[in-house]
Amino acid sequence: MDYLLVKYLHLSCVVISIGLFVLRGTLQLQSKPWRQWRLLRVAPHIVDTVLLGSALWLVWRSGQYPFVEGWLTAKVLALLAYIGLGMRALGKNTSQTQRLPLFAAALLSVTYIVGVALTRSPSWGLL
Ligand code: HEM
Repeated sequence: MDYLLVKYLHLSCVVISIGLFVLRGTLQLQSKPWRQWRLLRVAPHIVDTVLLGSALWLVWRSGQYPFVEGWLTAKVLALLAYIGLGMRALGKNTSQTQRLPLFAAALLSVTYIVGVALTRSPSWGLL
């Protein structure tokens, strides 16, 4: 398979995945019943699976591995933070006052991931 094609697949999934998260987060903050829409319930699982699958393929084909390359280690750790914060921000048992800070923190972590990916540096090349 063509490396560039998979990289574009990875990038497309990044855009759709973040878009779906922002949409669900915004609806949740307004207490809108977004779970009623099947598309919003199912699509994130499919997109995130393709996102991670393409990430693993890129890791394998580029020979750059997490816990060997600093930027990929930072990506994986920040991804865990993003998943945890995102799940809590959207969670059914989260109070409405906790949602906004959790949602903002999740967006900060995914912004950090994009910065790390673009600069290939855990510090965004600033240090
Ligand atoms: C929300 C999660 C993720 C986001 C937002 C993201 C974002 C990106 C972006 C923007 C690029 C393109 C960088 C460029 O311009 O070359 C990229 C490439 C890449 N990503 Fe991700 N990514 C995510 C998850 C992951 C994970 C979990 C891994 C693996 C552990 C990974 C591995 C890679 C690899 C190997 C490349 C290709 C780099 C190259 O061609 O040198 N990504 N990612």
